[in-house]
Amino acid sequence: MADWPLTSDLGPLGALPTAPRLARGFIGVVLTAWGLTGLADVTELLVSELTANVVRASTGPDGNPRYDNEGKLPLLWVRLLSDHFRIMVEVWDNLPPAIGTPVVRHPGPDEESGRGLEMIDALSEDWGWESVPGWKGKRV
Ligand SMILES: Nc1ncnc2c1ncn2[C@@H]1O[C@H](COP(=O)(O)OP(=O)(O)OP(=O)(O)O)[C@@H](O)[C@H]1O
Ligand SMILES: [Mg+2]
Repeated sequence: MADWPLTSDLGPLGALPTAPRLARGFIGVVLTAWGLTGLADVTELLVSELTANVVRASTGPDGNPRYDNEGKLPLLWVRLLSDHFRIMVEVWDNLPPAIGTPVVRHPGPDEESGRGLEMIDALSEDWGWESVPGWKGKRV
């Protein structure tokens, strides 16, 4: 396991359409502070896709958020880690497993969606997700 001496966290954010924009702004500010602006574009793209996936998974067929049985919005968190050369991006959500999990799709040319994780797979050194013990959600 690599050592990541630099860490910065954002959240909780409501899993709403405004979240990817907030997450991109956070990436820009933190990478500037860390002197890693050369990695900002690709990191903003990755974090946009990951947070947009949480927003999509948090939205019901009627277009409204999937409030939990206490009436609370699904939430997400972004964690950025670095060893001064490489970056690790984590996006956490508190969605129940029944909502589904991240799976790379391979859409045909006429399909309008299903390219986010394919792009992440291509642009990152590695990616994955896991459920977190004691936590109903997951970390991607
Ligand atoms: N955080 C998540 N929680 C639950 N399911 C997810 C999550 N991220 C991805 N998925 C599942 O993985 C599938 C593939 O994600 P991917 O980002 O590749 O495509 P998409 O979001 O459907 O479309 P696009 O990213 O092209 O707009 C999603 O359709 C969804 O079923
Ligand atoms: Mg997506």
